[in-house]
Amino acid sequence: MKTNEITLQELNTNQFIEKKVKEISSLVGNGIAINALSGGVDSAAVTMLGHKALGKRLKTYFIENGLMRKDEPQQIVKLFKKHGVEVIIIDAKEKFFSALKGITDPEQKREAITQTFYKNVFGELVKESGSKYLLQGTILTDVDETVAGIKRQHNVFEQLGIDPQEMFGYKIIEPLVQIRKDGVRKVAKALDLPPSIYNRMPFPGPALSARVIGEATPEKIELVRQATVITEEILADVAAFQYMAILHNDRVTGMRNGKRDFGLQIEIRCWNSIDARTATPTNLSYETLMELSRLILENVPGVVSVTYNIATKPPSTMEAI
Ligand code: XMP
Repeated sequence: MKTNEITLQELNTNQFIEKKVKEISSLVGNGIAINALSGGVDSAAVTMLGHKALGKRLKTYFIENGLMRKDEPQQIVKLFKKHGVEVIIIDAKEKFFSALKGITDPEQKREAITQTFYKNVFGELVKESGSKYLLQGTILTDVDETVAGIKRQHNVFEQLGIDPQEMFGYKIIEPLVQIRKDGVRKVAKALDLPPSIYNRMPFPGPALSARVIGEATPEKIELVRQATVITEEILADVAAFQYMAILHNDRVTGMRNGKRDFGLQIEIRCWNSIDARTATPTNLSYETLMELSRLILENVPGVVSVTYNIATKPPSTMEAI
């Protein structure tokens, strides 16, 4: 099925919002819908559209999958409370780590996350809440990359011939599927969300597990989380589309306190991009790179190598997994 794109130039935010609110209202009728808010601009925009359409009949959850960045759940819940949206945190850490156990293949990891989100977590929430609909922030780039077989984005079904009703027992509503990241930012701004949300850097559905090469264990996720705090702090003022730290699977020989240390490798990526379809590495200063390296080597246990990725997308993709 081909999705009709609304380009940034064609997008009239007020008309778009009005149309999507109407569509959500008429699909859900007097019923209930649920949605998961990760705090990213896509799920934030969908939360506000759903809230406008359904008010308290939209139940919004933050899924604590154990793969999020430091303090993310609490920050998001606080921010949305200010916008009149109550967000319920669901602790699903165990479910995700047991689904990821022993898996090293990138696409199998993505599939494990997808199944855990949609079958185990949302499946239960739908039943408990009495809802028949899940509202979610799939954008056109997610669909394109999945259909092209580049990467199985966690949130794409119908375009792959998968019927969510049949597979998971509920319908999925995707108000943003005709637009891309730049369009979503414009819509989020028009929905009165703050710059910290509409300018928020993208973060993938599989979260930090997309940034651990090989098995995503709780220990490895914690290491990449620590490297992420440093990377996001040091690069906060760089005008880039997205930046990230990645933990490699291979170890390399290093030395510490005069002894051999067969240690870990962290790779930094920092991308310039308009819509995530293509990207180029940002021309970071050598001082910035050295500062990143120093802080990661000093603060992330076991790391002996820090590298900066200078490949373009394509042939690279932005995330490592
Ligand atoms: P890639 O790695 O495919 O990433 O070049 C392009 C953009 O998409 C984000 N990304 C995802 N977003 N679910 C999402 O919602 C996913 O499964 C997913 N995988 C990658 C990535 O962070 C980048 O902004």
